[in-house]
Amino acid sequence: MNTALQKSLTYKKYVIDDNLQYFKPHSTKIEKTFADEICSSLSGDSKHIHPKFFYDKKGSALFDKICILPEYYPTRTEIKILKNLKSELSEYLDGSFRLVELGSGSSMKTRLILDIFSKIQNKIEYFPIDISEILTESSELLQKDYPNLHITGIIDTYEGGLEFIEKYDDKKNLIIFLGSSFGNFIPNEGKNFLQKINSTMKKEDLFLIGLDLVKDKKILENAYDDSQGITANFNLNVLSRINDELDADFDLNNFEHCAKYNEKDQRVEMYLKSLVNQSVIISKANISLKLKQGELIHTEHSHKYKISQIKDLMEKTGFEIKQNWLDVNKHYALILVSKK
Ligand SMILES: C[S@@+](CC[C@H](N)C(=O)[O-])C[C@H]1O[C@@H](n2cnc3c(N)ncnc32)[C@H](O)[C@@H]1O
Repeated sequence: MNTALQKSLTYKKYVIDDNLQYFKPHSTKIEKTFADEICSSLSGDSKHIHPKFFYDKKGSALFDKICILPEYYPTRTEIKILKNLKSELSEYLDGSFRLVELGSGSSMKTRLILDIFSKIQNKIEYFPIDISEILTESSELLQKDYPNLHITGIIDTYEGGLEFIEKYDDKKNLIIFLGSSFGNFIPNEGKNFLQKINSTMKKEDLFLIGLDLVKDKKILENAYDDSQGITANFNLNVLSRINDELDADFDLNNFEHCAKYNEKDQRVEMYLKSLVNQSVIISKANISLKLKQGELIHTEHSHKYKISQIKDLMEKTGFEIKQNWLDVNKHYALILVSKK
């Protein structure tokens, strides 16, 4: 590793055994970033909380529950596509790729890609990148089922993880970004993010991205507002997290989960609605927040795409589409690209 010294300054390294290690920013940096971002995003007139803060331990567990809800079609649809693309994806692999995953979460879908890798190479290197500590649990589970797997986990933001990978060495990467997590980016930021991925990639690298497609409004709204209220708990949990980690006094009973599809901007928007006039103190972020009855805190955008828009976006961010795979209902797409 040519930048070992630099990395040791920004990340702490945890070696679990010969096949498993993690890199994680120092905890003071993580807490400061959380407090600073919450301070600036909740202080202004249009209040928001970045969706990356959903994923503490409880948030990640709730997301896994969302994935198996009858209304939440994206996970099962993406899994179906992944199961079908086995031989078609292996055509692009030559036994020397390493697997890098952005937002790996519980790494359930990763297993389908690892199965493909296992058929063509003996040793597999996997670099999961996730802001959530869930990465450590999922890596340990993967290790039990894939003895030939060497895992280097990076517990950090996508951007931090990409910079880490870029400087790590010169090996060939298949980067995957599943779950339509890309849909959380607003268009301009999404474009910048794709350009960042592109600039991280080497000529021979590949990038596989899962994207949710535009569809019936009812299907979309139900997926983000399920009948069991799991998505509502997931959304509200971010306030519990702020209470726990930043010494705040949000009363969750004073908020309601809202999800609506904005057809013009092609996105499901999630909010936390204040049910009363209230003030909340967030000690570690140094703010006292005043909320009016009915005021919204924005928590997530989930953009939906048309195939023509995906092609245009990839073209504009320096990618060449190698292949795209859709499910029979055309609800979801997996796109494989390389650098132009
Ligand atoms: C919607 S889940 C998708 C998980 C999994 N890839 C899937 O397809 O089911 C998003 C994952 O990305 C992680 N995540 C969200 N925002 C992130 C960010 N800005 N940087 C790094 N990880 C992030 C979360 O912790 C979570 O595990």
